[in-house]
Amino acid sequence: MRALTVRPGRPGSLGVEEVADPEPAAGELLVRGVALGLCGTDREIASGEYGRAAPDRGRLILGHESLGRVAEAPHGSGFNPGDLVAGVVRRPDPVPCGACAHGEFDMCRNGRYRERGIKELDGYGAELWCLETDYAVRVDAALGLAGVLMEPASVVAKAWEQIERVGARAWFEPRRALVTGAGPIGLLAALLGRQRGLDVHVLDRVTDGPKPDLVRALGATYHSDAAGDVLTAVRPDVVVEATGAAALVCEAIRGTAAYGIVCLTGVSPAGRRLTVDAGAVNRAIVLENDVVVGSVNANLRHFRQAADALARADREWLHRLLTRRVPLERAASAFERHADGIKTVITLEGGAR
Ligand code: BGC
Repeated sequence: MRALTVRPGRPGSLGVEEVADPEPAAGELLVRGVALGLCGTDREIASGEYGRAAPDRGRLILGHESLGRVAEAPHGSGFNPGDLVAGVVRRPDPVPCGACAHGEFDMCRNGRYRERGIKELDGYGAELWCLETDYAVRVDAALGLAGVLMEPASVVAKAWEQIERVGARAWFEPRRALVTGAGPIGLLAALLGRQRGLDVHVLDRVTDGPKPDLVRALGATYHSDAAGDVLTAVRPDVVVEATGAAALVCEAIRGTAAYGIVCLTGVSPAGRRLTVDAGAVNRAIVLENDVVVGSVNANLRHFRQAADALARADREWLHRLLTRRVPLERAASAFERHADGIKTVITLEGGAR
Protein backbone atom coordinates (compact mmCIF):
# COMPACT_ATOMS: atom_id res chain seq x y z
CA MET A 1 0.00 0.00 0.00
CA ARG A 2 1.00 3.61 -0.34
CA ALA A 3 1.62 5.80 2.70
CA LEU A 4 2.64 9.38 3.40
CA THR A 5 5.89 9.09 5.31
CA VAL A 6 8.46 11.35 6.90
CA ARG A 7 11.75 10.93 8.76
CA PRO A 8 11.09 13.10 11.82
CA GLY A 9 13.80 15.70 12.34
CA ARG A 10 14.79 15.56 8.67
CA PRO A 11 13.36 18.44 6.63
CA GLY A 12 12.56 17.47 3.05
CA SER A 13 12.04 13.78 3.91
CA LEU A 14 8.29 13.80 3.29
CA GLY A 15 7.19 11.44 0.54
CA VAL A 16 4.70 8.86 -0.64
CA GLU A 17 6.18 5.39 -0.24
CA GLU A 18 5.14 1.83 -0.88
CA VAL A 19 5.06 0.04 2.49
CA ALA A 20 3.82 -3.36 3.66
CA ASP A 21 0.07 -3.65 4.26
CA PRO A 22 -0.70 -3.59 8.01
CA GLU A 23 -2.04 -6.75 9.64
CA PRO A 24 -4.78 -6.18 12.22
CA ALA A 25 -4.03 -7.69 15.65
CA ALA A 26 -6.79 -9.20 17.78
CA GLY A 27 -9.34 -6.54 18.65
CA GLU A 28 -8.35 -4.27 15.78
CA LEU A 29 -10.18 -3.03 12.74
CA LEU A 30 -8.62 -2.99 9.31
CA VAL A 31 -9.59 0.35 7.81
CA ARG A 32 -9.32 1.65 4.25
CA GLY A 33 -8.26 5.29 4.42
CA VAL A 34 -10.73 7.75 2.89
CA ALA A 35 -9.13 11.09 3.70
CA LEU A 36 -6.57 12.73 5.90
CA GLY A 37 -6.82 16.29 7.21
CA LEU A 38 -3.66 18.37 7.53
CA CYS A 39 -2.90 20.86 10.27
CA GLY A 40 -0.05 22.97 11.56
CA THR A 41 1.37 20.01 13.50
CA ASP A 42 1.75 18.03 10.26
CA ARG A 43 3.52 20.99 8.66
CA GLU A 44 5.88 21.21 11.65
CA ILE A 45 6.64 17.49 11.38
CA ALA A 46 7.17 17.77 7.62
CA SER A 47 9.63 20.60 8.15
CA GLY A 48 11.62 18.55 10.67
CA GLU A 49 10.68 20.57 13.75
CA TYR A 50 8.42 18.12 15.60
CA GLY A 51 7.43 14.46 15.72
CA ARG A 52 9.17 11.21 16.61
CA ALA A 53 9.20 7.80 14.95
CA ALA A 54 9.00 4.61 17.03
CA PRO A 55 12.36 4.00 18.81
CA ASP A 56 13.37 1.19 16.42
CA ARG A 57 12.26 2.96 13.23
CA GLY A 58 13.43 5.99 11.32
CA ARG A 59 10.23 6.49 9.42
CA LEU A 60 6.84 7.67 10.62
CA ILE A 61 3.59 7.38 8.69
CA LEU A 62 2.20 10.89 9.03
CA GLY A 63 -1.37 11.92 9.75
CA HIS A 64 -3.67 12.18 12.76
CA GLU A 65 -6.89 13.70 11.34
CA SER A 66 -8.41 10.51 10.02
CA LEU A 67 -11.41 9.31 8.12
CA GLY A 68 -11.67 5.73 6.93
CA ARG A 69 -14.03 2.95 6.02
CA VAL A 70 -13.94 -0.32 7.93
CA ALA A 71 -12.73 -3.18 5.71
CA GLU A 72 -12.59 -5.89 8.37
CA ALA A 73 -13.97 -5.88 11.90
CA PRO A 74 -13.60 -8.42 14.71
CA HIS A 75 -16.77 -10.43 15.27
CA GLY A 76 -18.95 -8.87 17.98
CA SER A 77 -17.02 -5.58 17.95
CA GLY A 78 -20.09 -3.58 16.98
CA PHE A 79 -18.32 -2.37 13.82
CA ASN A 80 -19.13 -3.64 10.35
CA PRO A 81 -17.40 -3.43 7.01
CA GLY A 82 -18.40 -0.18 5.33
CA ASP A 83 -18.76 1.84 8.56
CA LEU A 84 -17.06 5.23 8.52
CA VAL A 85 -14.68 5.71 11.42
CA ALA A 86 -12.10 8.14 12.77
CA GLY A 87 -9.24 7.15 15.05
CA VAL A 88 -8.37 8.70 18.40
CA VAL A 89 -4.88 10.24 18.22
CA ARG A 90 -3.31 9.66 21.62
CA ARG A 91 -2.60 6.43 23.49
CA PRO A 92 -1.98 6.30 27.25
CA ASP A 93 1.56 6.21 28.57
CA PRO A 94 2.83 2.73 29.57
CA VAL A 95 3.25 3.46 33.30
CA PRO A 96 0.38 4.66 33.31
CA CYS A 97 0.17 7.99 35.12
CA GLY A 98 -3.02 8.68 37.09
CA ALA A 99 -4.64 10.65 34.29
CA CYS A 100 -3.92 7.97 31.68
CA ALA A 101 -5.13 5.28 34.09
CA HIS A 102 -8.44 7.15 34.24
CA GLY A 103 -8.86 7.38 30.46
CA GLU A 104 -7.79 11.04 30.52
CA PHE A 105 -4.72 10.43 28.38
CA ASP A 106 -5.20 13.88 26.87
CA MET A 107 -4.08 15.12 30.31
CA CYS A 108 -1.05 12.77 30.56
CA ARG A 109 1.25 13.82 33.40
CA ASN A 110 4.53 12.16 32.48
CA GLY A 111 4.74 12.99 28.77
CA ARG A 112 5.24 9.36 27.78
CA TYR A 113 1.95 9.19 25.86
CA ARG A 114 2.18 8.24 22.19
CA GLU A 115 0.26 9.83 19.32
CA ARG A 116 -0.64 8.33 15.95
CA GLY A 117 1.15 10.15 13.17
CA ILE A 118 2.98 12.43 15.61
CA LYS A 119 4.86 10.60 18.34
CA GLU A 120 6.14 7.01 18.13
CA LEU A 121 3.10 5.50 16.41
CA ASP A 122 2.33 5.37 12.71
CA GLY A 123 -0.48 7.63 11.65
CA TYR A 124 -3.47 7.46 9.38
CA GLY A 125 -1.95 8.84 6.18
CA ALA A 126 -2.10 5.52 4.37
CA GLU A 127 -4.37 3.53 2.10
CA LEU A 128 -4.85 1.01 4.92
CA TRP A 129 -4.52 1.33 8.68
CA CYS A 130 -5.32 -0.73 11.73
CA LEU A 131 -7.26 0.68 14.64
CA GLU A 132 -8.05 -0.76 18.07
CA THR A 133 -11.84 -0.89 18.37
CA ASP A 134 -11.50 0.91 21.73
CA TYR A 135 -10.02 3.92 19.94
CA ALA A 136 -12.37 3.90 16.95
CA VAL A 137 -15.08 6.54 16.76
CA ARG A 138 -18.08 6.04 14.55
CA VAL A 139 -18.66 8.79 11.99
CA ASP A 140 -22.18 9.54 10.76
CA ALA A 141 -22.27 8.33 7.12
CA ALA A 142 -24.27 11.44 6.20
CA LEU A 143 -21.21 13.59 6.92
CA GLY A 144 -19.25 12.04 4.07
CA LEU A 145 -15.87 13.71 3.62
CA ALA A 146 -16.69 16.28 6.33
CA GLY A 147 -16.20 13.41 8.79
CA VAL A 148 -12.48 14.20 8.45
CA LEU A 149 -13.21 17.15 10.77
CA MET A 150 -13.79 14.77 13.68
CA GLU A 151 -10.30 15.16 15.18
CA PRO A 152 -10.10 18.97 15.07
CA ALA A 153 -13.68 19.04 16.38
CA SER A 154 -12.61 16.79 19.28
CA VAL A 155 -9.83 19.24 20.18
CA VAL A 156 -12.42 22.05 20.18
CA ALA A 157 -14.94 19.99 22.18
CA LYS A 158 -12.27 19.46 24.81
CA ALA A 159 -11.47 23.18 24.89
CA TRP A 160 -15.14 24.03 25.49
CA GLU A 161 -15.38 21.37 28.17
CA GLN A 162 -12.35 22.90 29.90
CA ILE A 163 -13.96 26.34 29.74
CA GLU A 164 -17.19 25.03 31.23
CA ARG A 165 -15.41 23.14 34.00
CA VAL A 166 -13.26 26.13 34.90
CA GLY A 167 -16.31 28.39 34.76
CA ALA A 168 -18.25 26.06 37.06
CA ARG A 169 -16.01 27.01 40.01
CA ALA A 170 -18.45 29.87 40.69
CA TRP A 171 -21.65 31.24 39.15
CA PHE A 172 -21.14 31.14 35.38
CA GLU A 173 -23.46 32.27 32.66
CA PRO A 174 -21.25 33.40 29.80
CA ARG A 175 -22.84 35.47 27.07
CA ARG A 176 -20.12 36.62 24.72
CA ALA A 177 -17.28 34.57 23.32
CA LEU A 178 -14.43 35.78 21.16
CA VAL A 179 -12.59 33.31 18.98
CA THR A 180 -9.23 34.52 17.71
CA GLY A 181 -8.26 32.98 14.38
CA ALA A 182 -10.65 31.73 11.71
CA GLY A 183 -8.77 28.60 10.72
CA PRO A 184 -10.37 25.15 11.19
CA ILE A 185 -9.98 25.23 15.00
CA GLY A 186 -11.32 28.78 15.27
CA LEU A 187 -14.28 28.14 12.98
CA LEU A 188 -15.18 24.90 14.76
CA ALA A 189 -14.83 26.71 18.11
CA ALA A 190 -17.26 29.33 16.80
CA LEU A 191 -19.66 26.58 15.70
CA LEU A 192 -19.61 24.95 19.15
CA GLY A 193 -19.99 28.35 20.78
CA ARG A 194 -23.09 29.05 18.69
CA GLN A 195 -24.43 25.59 19.53
CA ARG A 196 -24.21 26.72 23.18
CA GLY A 197 -26.32 29.77 22.36
CA LEU A 198 -23.50 32.28 22.86
CA ASP A 199 -23.03 35.59 21.11
CA VAL A 200 -19.91 34.60 19.18
CA HIS A 201 -17.34 36.97 17.67
CA VAL A 202 -14.46 35.83 15.49
CA LEU A 203 -11.31 37.85 14.88
CA ASP A 204 -8.99 37.17 11.96
CA ARG A 205 -6.73 39.28 9.78
CA VAL A 206 -8.26 38.52 6.40
CA THR A 207 -11.08 40.58 4.95
CA ASP A 208 -11.85 38.46 1.89
CA GLY A 209 -12.00 34.78 1.00
CA PRO A 210 -14.50 32.38 2.62
CA LYS A 211 -13.86 33.12 6.32
CA PRO A 212 -16.06 36.20 6.88
CA ASP A 213 -19.04 34.51 5.22
CA LEU A 214 -18.54 31.24 7.09
CA VAL A 215 -18.60 33.16 10.36
CA ARG A 216 -21.72 35.11 9.40
CA ALA A 217 -23.43 31.90 8.27
CA LEU A 218 -23.16 30.69 11.88
CA GLY A 219 -24.94 33.80 13.11
CA ALA A 220 -21.65 35.05 14.56
CA THR A 221 -19.88 38.39 14.00
CA TYR A 222 -16.67 38.65 12.01
CA HIS A 223 -13.98 41.20 12.94
CA SER A 224 -10.72 42.11 11.26
CA ASP A 225 -9.89 45.30 13.21
CA ALA A 226 -7.03 45.61 15.69
CA ALA A 227 -7.35 43.06 18.51
CA GLY A 228 -7.34 45.73 21.24
CA ASP A 229 -10.30 47.53 19.65
CA VAL A 230 -12.26 44.31 19.19
CA LEU A 231 -11.64 43.24 22.79
CA THR A 232 -12.77 46.64 24.07
CA ALA A 233 -15.93 46.49 21.97
CA VAL A 234 -16.82 42.86 22.74
CA ARG A 235 -15.50 42.42 26.34
CA PRO A 236 -15.81 38.66 26.02
CA ASP A 237 -16.59 36.35 28.93
CA VAL A 238 -14.70 33.63 27.09
CA VAL A 239 -11.86 33.73 24.58
CA VAL A 240 -10.87 30.70 22.55
CA GLU A 241 -7.43 31.57 21.25
CA ALA A 242 -6.60 29.65 18.07
CA THR A 243 -3.71 31.56 16.52
CA GLY A 244 -0.83 31.03 18.95
CA ALA A 245 0.24 34.60 18.15
CA ALA A 246 1.97 35.70 21.36
CA ALA A 247 0.96 39.37 21.22
CA LEU A 248 -2.67 38.45 20.66
CA VAL A 249 -2.56 35.97 23.56
CA CYS A 250 -1.37 38.74 25.90
CA GLU A 251 -4.02 41.17 24.68
CA ALA A 252 -6.75 38.56 25.10
CA ILE A 253 -5.70 37.86 28.69
CA ARG A 254 -6.01 41.54 29.54
CA GLY A 255 -9.15 42.13 27.51
CA THR A 256 -11.75 39.75 28.93
CA ALA A 257 -14.73 40.70 31.08
CA ALA A 258 -14.39 40.00 34.82
CA TYR A 259 -14.29 36.27 35.62
CA GLY A 260 -13.01 35.84 32.08
CA ILE A 261 -11.63 32.59 30.77
CA VAL A 262 -9.04 32.47 28.03
CA CYS A 263 -8.51 29.03 26.57
CA LEU A 264 -5.28 28.72 24.62
CA THR A 265 -5.29 26.14 21.83
CA GLY A 266 -2.70 27.53 19.42
CA VAL A 267 0.87 26.24 19.55
CA SER A 268 3.32 29.08 19.00
CA PRO A 269 6.96 28.87 18.03
CA ALA A 270 9.35 29.48 20.90
CA GLY A 271 12.06 32.12 20.77
CA ARG A 272 10.06 35.15 19.76
CA ARG A 273 10.36 37.95 22.26
CA LEU A 274 7.88 40.62 23.07
CA THR A 275 7.69 43.39 25.63
CA VAL A 276 4.74 42.86 27.93
CA ASP A 277 3.60 44.78 31.00
CA ALA A 278 3.56 41.64 33.13
CA GLY A 279 2.37 43.59 36.16
CA ALA A 280 -0.72 44.78 34.29
CA VAL A 281 -1.42 41.24 33.08
CA ASN A 282 -1.11 39.86 36.62
CA ARG A 283 -3.31 42.66 37.96
CA ALA A 284 -6.04 41.97 35.39
CA ILE A 285 -6.03 38.26 36.20
CA VAL A 286 -6.10 38.70 39.98
CA LEU A 287 -8.55 41.57 40.24
CA GLU A 288 -11.02 39.86 37.86
CA ASN A 289 -10.65 36.22 38.96
CA ASP A 290 -9.61 35.46 35.39
CA VAL A 291 -8.26 32.12 34.26
CA VAL A 292 -5.95 31.26 31.41
CA VAL A 293 -6.12 27.58 30.55
CA GLY A 294 -4.17 25.62 27.96
CA SER A 295 -5.87 22.78 26.13
CA VAL A 296 -4.44 20.11 23.84
CA ASN A 297 -5.56 16.82 22.36
CA ALA A 298 -8.80 14.98 23.22
CA ASN A 299 -9.93 11.78 24.87
CA LEU A 300 -12.75 9.46 23.83
CA ARG A 301 -15.38 11.54 25.60
CA HIS A 302 -14.37 14.56 23.51
CA PHE A 303 -14.50 12.56 20.30
CA ARG A 304 -18.08 11.61 21.18
CA GLN A 305 -18.91 15.24 21.90
CA ALA A 306 -17.36 16.12 18.54
CA ALA A 307 -19.48 13.50 16.78
CA ASP A 308 -22.61 15.05 18.33
CA ALA A 309 -21.56 18.58 17.42
CA LEU A 310 -20.82 17.64 13.81
CA ALA A 311 -24.10 15.73 13.53
CA ARG A 312 -26.00 18.86 14.66
CA ALA A 313 -24.09 21.21 12.33
CA ASP A 314 -25.13 22.34 8.89
CA ARG A 315 -23.45 19.79 6.62
CA GLU A 316 -22.99 22.16 3.74
CA TRP A 317 -21.21 24.60 6.10
CA LEU A 318 -18.86 21.83 7.26
CA HIS A 319 -18.04 20.93 3.65
CA ARG A 320 -17.16 24.56 2.96
CA LEU A 321 -14.31 24.24 5.47
CA LEU A 322 -12.63 21.69 3.19
CA THR A 323 -11.12 24.20 0.82
CA ARG A 324 -8.59 21.91 -0.89
CA ARG A 325 -8.54 18.22 -1.77
CA VAL A 326 -5.29 16.72 -2.95
CA PRO A 327 -4.86 13.08 -3.97
CA LEU A 328 -2.20 11.07 -2.11
CA GLU A 329 0.13 10.96 -5.13
CA ARG A 330 0.39 14.76 -5.00
CA ALA A 331 0.57 14.93 -1.19
CA ALA A 332 3.66 17.17 -1.14
CA SER A 333 1.68 19.98 -2.76
CA ALA A 334 -0.93 19.74 0.01
CA PHE A 335 1.65 21.27 2.37
CA GLU A 336 1.85 24.55 0.44
CA ARG A 337 0.05 27.33 2.24
CA HIS A 338 -2.81 29.10 0.51
CA ALA A 339 -3.80 32.49 1.87
CA ASP A 340 -7.56 31.94 1.98
CA GLY A 341 -7.44 28.19 2.57
CA ILE A 342 -9.06 26.61 5.61
CA LYS A 343 -8.64 22.83 5.67
CA THR A 344 -6.63 20.85 3.15
CA VAL A 345 -7.41 17.17 2.94
CA ILE A 346 -5.45 14.44 1.24
CA THR A 347 -7.76 11.93 -0.38
CA LEU A 348 -6.64 8.34 0.05
CA GLU A 349 -9.09 6.45 -2.12
CA GLY A 350 -9.17 5.82 -5.80
CA GLY A 351 -5.53 6.54 -6.63
CA ALA A 352 -3.43 4.37 -8.93
CA ARG A 353 -1.61 1.73 -6.92
C1 BGC B 1 -3.21 17.37 17.59
C2 BGC B 1 -3.30 16.87 19.01
C3 BGC B 1 -1.91 16.59 19.54
C4 BGC B 1 -1.03 17.82 19.38
C5 BGC B 1 0.36 17.69 19.92
C6 BGC B 1 -2.26 18.53 17.52
O1 BGC B 1 -2.15 18.94 16.20
O2 BGC B 1 -4.48 17.77 17.15
O3 BGC B 1 -4.09 15.72 19.07
O4 BGC B 1 -1.98 16.21 20.88
O5 BGC B 1 -1.00 18.18 18.03
O6 BGC B 1 1.11 16.63 19.39
